[in-house]
Amino acid sequence: MMDHEVDQQRILLAAETLVKEKLERDSSGHDWWHIYRVVQTTKRIAAQEGADGFVCELAALLHDVVDEKLNADPAAAQRELEDWLAASGTPAAQVEHVLEIISTMSFKGGARPPMATLEGQVVQDADRLDAIGAVGVSRVFAYSGWKGRPIHDPSVIAREQMTVEEYRGGNDTAINHFYEKLLKLKELMNTAYARELAEERHRFMELYLQQFYAEWEGER
Ligand code: ADP
Ligand code: NI
Repeated sequence: MMDHEVDQQRILLAAETLVKEKLERDSSGHDWWHIYRVVQTTKRIAAQEGADGFVCELAALLHDVVDEKLNADPAAAQRELEDWLAASGTPAAQVEHVLEIISTMSFKGGARPPMATLEGQVVQDADRLDAIGAVGVSRVFAYSGWKGRPIHDPSVIAREQMTVEEYRGGNDTAINHFYEKLLKLKELMNTAYARELAEERHRFMELYLQQFYAEWEGER
């Protein structure tokens, strides 16, 4: 191994320790194992797409530590992250790159900026892939339960026809989140390889919903 590879491994390990500490007690779907899965998928996509593996993995590890759902004070969390990166031994250009990826990923509100670099696209794809497929299904129900929301309410399906304002005014269900977001994620993949991975996960969700409705009506 070359020296800088040893450094990179050390930095990635330190980031892992930091993130585990921070996310350990979360039950909103941002637990350590979400990070683990995003890292695994990130590595796979990065290798296929020829992206910088170190930047991808570091950004994947740290992508949720500034999330406002996890931090009472997101600005303080952002400063902590910047300080940590500056002291980590990561070269300045890569620190900038990782910070840019994380801030683009956690952008809130309309007019979401597109990912400027391949590495950012890879990590964003991996994060979105974790919201679909069998794992995605599990996460929707975990999140809904955490929010105290019902699994399903057939009258909510009709809300698909309503305006966004009317829709948001009603009470959310887990099943409704598939239509609001999860079934749209396949089309939002940045990279060709992630789109490929998304296909199977998407088909699985469609199959899941078919089975769900059939069971709901006692048809199967
Ligand atoms: P990210 O990991 O990209 O920050 P979010 O914070 O948007 O994702 O959501 C985390 C998980 O919780 C995802 O799997 C998502 O599907 C689920 N989730 C988010 N909002 C809702 C919702 N309104 N109803 C059900 N599940 C949700
Ligand atoms: Ni995430």
